[in-house]
Amino acid sequence: MAKDVQPSDPAARSGALAQSQISAILEIAADAIIALDETLRITLFNDGAATIFGYLPAEIIGQPLDLLIPERMRANHKRHVADFSVSPVAARKMGERQEIFARRKDGSEFPAEASIAKQVIDGHKAYMVLLRDVTDRKRFEAELAAANSQLEARVQERTRALEAEIRRREEAHAALIQAQRMEAFGQLTGGVAHDFNNLLTIITGNLELIGDEMENESHATLLKRASDAADMGAALTKRLLTFARRRRLTPQILDVNEMILNLTEILQRSLGEPIALTTVLAGTLWRTRADASELENAILNLAINARDAMPDGGNLVIESRNVSADEVGLPNGGEFVLVSVSDTGQGMPPEVIERAFEPFFTTKEPGRGTGLGLSTVYGFVEQSGGHAIIESTPGQGTTVNLYLPRVREVSETTARSAEPVPLSENSEAVLVVEDNPDVRELTLQRVEGLGYVAVEAESGAAAIRMLEAGEDVQIVLSDIVMAGGISGYDVAHWVSEHAPHVKVLLTTGYAAEEARPDAADIAILRKPYKRAELAVALRDALRR
Ligand SMILES: Nc1ncnc2c1ncn2[C@@H]1O[C@H](COP(=O)(O)OP(=O)(O)OP(=O)(O)O)[C@@H](O)[C@H]1O
Ligand SMILES: [Mg+2]
Repeated sequence: MAKDVQPSDPAARSGALAQSQISAILEIAADAIIALDETLRITLFNDGAATIFGYLPAEIIGQPLDLLIPERMRANHKRHVADFSVSPVAARKMGERQEIFARRKDGSEFPAEASIAKQVIDGHKAYMVLLRDVTDRKRFEAELAAANSQLEARVQERTRALEAEIRRREEAHAALIQAQRMEAFGQLTGGVAHDFNNLLTIITGNLELIGDEMENESHATLLKRASDAADMGAALTKRLLTFARRRRLTPQILDVNEMILNLTEILQRSLGEPIALTTVLAGTLWRTRADASELENAILNLAINARDAMPDGGNLVIESRNVSADEVGLPNGGEFVLVSVSDTGQGMPPEVIERAFEPFFTTKEPGRGTGLGLSTVYGFVEQSGGHAIIESTPGQGTTVNLYLPRVREVSETTARSAEPVPLSENSEAVLVVEDNPDVRELTLQRVEGLGYVAVEAESGAAAIRMLEAGEDVQIVLSDIVMAGGISGYDVAHWVSEHAPHVKVLLTTGYAAEEARPDAADIAILRKPYKRAELAVALRDALRR
């Protein structure tokens, strides 16, 4: 609020002018201006002081300064003033060393900034105090400090989050590269295995045909050896296809605990004395859905690896547990039945861990390991919708964790029991469609050997032409992938549209082909197949 400051008589400048200017300053100052006598009693109290302290000048003038000082500080303050009164300094800022707090009439305290000057008037000391209420500034400073430290905390938090994100991305990237590598290996292995399957089909089938006509005993032994070798070849390609995730698995609801218990009997016997086998099984383990014999195989493979890693003995622990993805840091969520196989063996350095799942990667001497163990475990677990993860420290041991997805519905798929080879019931006619002449020749002989009448076509197009021309057959037995652009599926579709009374049975060495969505309704026989399997598939297809 502006005060009315009157300029004085221009003739009489000095004393009177100065006096009225001082009065104006006292009146308009927002700060407190207080004068004190030698005994520290208040002799002047301006409007600013009245506003700040809440006293009217009339009630405070003549009172001791102590009234304006919080009780807890009065002693301290007295010392301060006494020192100042004898010091040679004429004016100084108080509060350079300590916070100044003042006291309002209502007893409340507030922070203040004060300056003090001393004078000698008529031989008596007197003091002049200028005091500013800094409550607002202090509050503002405190708020600023709080805001700053909050900001800092948030910056730190954000930095941490960013660092975690960077780490997460680096890990995801590494995992992706690894997955791509395994995928490439899978493609390669799958292709080789597929070609081998065709060759083995021919070998096995022809050996069977020779066997049917064999009378010489010693030749029979030779034949048996050859067909055993072919069976081993088939077993090997089966492992390769497992790694390549191209095997048709027979998943069923599994009680993994029961499976582990059954296995421990075999293991205990085969592991030998120096290895102590322990099982740690979850009390109520969730169910999973997987191919039982592949899972058994996987656990056996891991146990054998563990044994090989502990030539001087040690502990082998097979454990089962229910885990959630979050709890164990798996990507993409979900609940899993964990089967882990741990040993106290030599462990693996990082570069071995990185490559251990690759097919044919082995550190064992030639003839001792094929390097297919872990790769089939990996392929099987991935194809089952799970994850396989190695944890290992050189010199301490290894744990391989298999995470199999939890299933909730418990509907048992029943295992097929062995049946005698069913022969043709009515000498039905079979159209064999196959582009590979050796496989075709073999298939024709097998089909006839089962009592059917066989006719042949060397391509899908040729088969359709024959059917169009009225070739009278009850069933078409066709390979899926053939040269010439017309696949087994195309033949099947043609038949369902133009000759729906004719049945269709397709064959393939590729699980990927079987997985086509439009294949749901079509019977498929996986290569290589035995004569008995062909007999059952033909009989079943004819009955559809
Ligand atoms: N429990 C283990 N402890 C230490 N190293 C292991 C363990 N399991 C696997 N390895 C390492 O990983 C490699 C690959 O294992 P994998 O089972 O695939 O093949 P292999 O055991 O060498 O041969 P195969 O299983 O075909 O007989 C092994 O050669 C070995 O170096
Ligand atoms: Mg192995």
